[in-house]
Order: sequence, then C-alpha cells, then structure tokens
Amino acid sequence: MSDPKVLLNVTNLTVHYGAIQALRGISFEVCEGEIITLIGSNGAGKTTTLHAISNIIRKTAGAVVFDGTDISALPPDRIVASGLVQAPEGRRIFANLSVKDNLEMGAYLRKDRPAIRSDIEMVYGLFPRLKERRQQVSGTLSGGEQQMLAMGRALMSKPRLLLLDEPSMGLAPILVDEIFSIIRRISENGTTILLVEQNAFKALGLASRAYILETGQVIKTGPAKDLLKDDAVKTAYLGG
Ligand SMILES: Nc1ncnc2c1ncn2[C@@H]1O[C@H](COP(=O)(O)OP(=O)(O)O)[C@@H](O)[C@H]1O
Ligand SMILES: [Mg+2]
Repeated sequence: MSDPKVLLNVTNLTVHYGAIQALRGISFEVCEGEIITLIGSNGAGKTTTLHAISNIIRKTAGAVVFDGTDISALPPDRIVASGLVQAPEGRRIFANLSVKDNLEMGAYLRKDRPAIRSDIEMVYGLFPRLKERRQQVSGTLSGGEQQMLAMGRALMSKPRLLLLDEPSMGLAPILVDEIFSIIRRISENGTTILLVEQNAFKALGLASRAYILETGQVIKTGPAKDLLKDDAVKTAYLGG
C-alpha cells in the first residue's frame, strides 16, 4: 500500500495577541481520509490554531501547506474555495435567516445550482432535524440544532478538509453522541476532518491520531488508541 497523502501540513505555527503568545510553534499534519484531533483545555490555543490556518488572524510565524500549496498568505475566501473549510465554534449562524437559507449561504462561492440542491438534501440526510426545521428562523433553534446547522453550512461549501471547533460544546450527552456519529459519517463520505475538542474521551474514540495542546504547544502526539491508555493523558484529560 502506498503511504497516505498529506493533505494539511502545519509547521511552526506561532500567534501573538498583542504581547501574549497564544501559539508557540505548533506543527502537525493531517493525511487524506483521516480524522485528526487536537485536544486541550480551555485556553490551550485550539481555536487560535484553526483561525490561523483559515488565515482569519495574523500569524507571527509558521507555514500552512494544503494539498501541496502554501496557503499561509491566501485570503480566507480563497482558502474556503480551495476546499479547506471551518465550521465555527458555537453558533455563528445567520440568526434571522431560515435553516434552508443558511445552508444556501454556505454554498455562496459555488455556481452549480443542481449540485447545490442535491447537497442540501445530503445535509438533510445527515441532519434530519434540520430538514424538519428547514423553514424555521435559525435564531430560534436549540443550541444543538444550531451546531448542526453550522456543520451543515460548512458542508455546503464542499470541503475536502473540514475543521470542526468543539462541536460538542454545551450539548446534552445524547446530542454529543449524535454529533460524533454524524462526524464519523461525514468522514466515511470522504471528507478529511480536523477536530478540535475539549471532550478528549469522545475525540480520541473517533480520531486515528491526536495532538495534545497545552499553553500553545503540542506536548504529546500519537495514535488515538494509545493516548486513551496513556497515564498522563488519563489523569489530565480523561478524569483519571
Ligand atoms: N482575541 C484575543 N485577544 C487576546 N487574547 C486572546 C484572543 N483570543 C484568544 N486569546 C488568548 O489566547 C489563548 C488561546 O485561546 P484559544 O485559542 O481561544 O483557546 P481554546 O480554543 O483552546 O480554548 C488564551 O490564553 C486566550 O485568552
Ligand atoms: Mg476554542
């Protein structure tokens, strides 16, 4: 078997907010077809990492190579158009628009109308709750439904690599299970996934490999199944 192809290669990613150094030279890679997770506590630098990759915040140093092309300085909309798409943390949806209109906004860079219609049906297949609520004003959805809509909207731009920022945050346990099984299905449908999570147990259960982030540094990496058994990881992230 040939080696898996590296889809995203991040090297020495460094970010400052004013005098505060939020990322201290992070390096990792994501291969085509993988689910990779970055886990870390609140404030570890997870969201900053995704925003630096998407180039919506300024990097002090570091390179981001996507599918062999250095995209470090590419404008955010060009990055999305190239297939690297972030579903935002929490609920950054258009609250005044319907569910369906939000999904169509996700396809704003595309011109293939028939394919857009069939992709909306694909999203409804993954998220039947969104189909039931397609005419509902999005601001009135529950937190979990808004999270699903944020993910569905990201899928509408046909990502090759989907960046997910804490999709389980604030959700009831039963919805967490549902979201994680949907992430698995998105992966099985052929989308590579970089999943950022505080829920280390769930994320390690889904991912093939993981990177552990502490105060802006990768302190440990390895196959997810090994990290689940790692004593230090258990103590710090898995409740002993
Ligand atoms: N806009 C900002 N201005 C100043 N500091 C920030 C800003 N955003 C994040 N930080 C700081 O950067 C660090 C990493 O934050 P963040 O990437 O949001 O962590 P995480 O997503 O892992 O919780 C934290 O110390 C946080 O306080
Ligand atoms: Mg965050």
